[in-house]
Amino acid sequence: MPVITCIDDLKKIHERRAPRMFFDYCESGSWTEQTFRENVTDYDKIRLRQRVAVDMTGRSQKTQIIGTDATMPVALSPVGMTGMQHADGEILAARAAGKFGVPYTLSTMSICSIEDVAENTEKPFWFQLYTMKDMDYTKRLIERAKAANCSALVITLDLQILGQRHKDLKNGLSAPPELTPKSIANLATKWAWGLEMLQTKRRHFGNIVGHAKGVTDTSSLSSWTTEQFDPTLDWGKVAKLMEMWGGKVILKGILDVEDAKRAAELEPDAIVVSNHGGRQLDGALSSIRMLRPIVDAVGHKTDVHIDSGIRSGQDVLKALAMGAKAAHIGRAYIYGLGAMGEAGVKTALEVIQKELDISMALCGRQTIDQIDPSITLIPEDFEGRWHTT
Ligand SMILES: Cc1cc2nc3c(=O)[nH]c(=O)nc-3n(C[C@H](O)[C@H](O)[C@H](O)COP(=O)(O)O)c2cc1C
Repeated sequence: MPVITCIDDLKKIHERRAPRMFFDYCESGSWTEQTFRENVTDYDKIRLRQRVAVDMTGRSQKTQIIGTDATMPVALSPVGMTGMQHADGEILAARAAGKFGVPYTLSTMSICSIEDVAENTEKPFWFQLYTMKDMDYTKRLIERAKAANCSALVITLDLQILGQRHKDLKNGLSAPPELTPKSIANLATKWAWGLEMLQTKRRHFGNIVGHAKGVTDTSSLSSWTTEQFDPTLDWGKVAKLMEMWGGKVILKGILDVEDAKRAAELEPDAIVVSNHGGRQLDGALSSIRMLRPIVDAVGHKTDVHIDSGIRSGQDVLKALAMGAKAAHIGRAYIYGLGAMGEAGVKTALEVIQKELDISMALCGRQTIDQIDPSITLIPEDFEGRWHTT
């Protein structure tokens, strides 16, 4: 068993273990990957204030996320094709999150279906919705998530069309992987992944295959997106989806103050400041740069969460200090899953909690509600002075 001390250790094992097309699918951003890179590097620009001679006993990271108790203010983001990073990936990640005491979000584009995850896990999870042109299918997805007792609906707003990731096109990304000389040569080196995959039946998009009518190609994410995703999604439709659901709602993919204001008018339980992990609009600013302006504009009306670029407990701490009520992680737990299945997701969460705990203590804070902007040192020009005209 290797010694894992940070999320990067899990990433290295994930890269060795998973087929190239799936590791690349995780580890890439759109076009030049500028936004993908800056999501991470912008956290480095924020520094923490060391404080001393503060009683450090009785520390806790416990909190509430949209009104539910959580072990720490971290949630697992929806990640398409998680079940291709590791056999039964969605079930394993949901189990690890449930046992740890943080929310798990199942993607519409998952391999394990909503029903399958519900049957094979104990805690309720959140369901992430992509809206489709076929409104009946969208309605049925919402009904299925209700029937599975999902505790919140996460509506993703930043993917009506798919941003281009060069590697996915070059690798011929599909689920299950299409057998070509290139993919066979790579799969031959991934025997542990392959043996586990042979033992599961979950190898297709579980929420789509057998549920969506008239779909010509369900193995390719890009062709499904082009054919099926609803390009007409607007705020009016978002309001209708919220009404249809009738439970807790999180609006994901907000990166602009004006959009945050529109979203807050709909009174969701939270919004997520996100650029989809740098996978959609390349050239957009990093999420952490947009956090403070959005919190200033709508933080009094709705909870503001953040994702994109979080790789450590220190990143979580910085986001909380800048006004986020919770941080969602995508790749950080996928590296764990791809490396070691459920144990790897647990390890990723433990690493982040430990880093958060130690960093809080060294900043002189024992509890989450004591975290405030005064623990950070932020460069004066951090948000930047940008002109829109
Ligand atoms: C491989 C991969 C697949 C993703 N699939 C989805 C998805 O199906 N639905 C969604 O709303 N977001 C999806 N996202 C975006 C994540 O939910 C989240 O916004 C992003 O991963 C956060 O950035 P981080 O990975 O740097 O933490 C995906 C991200 C990755 C890396």
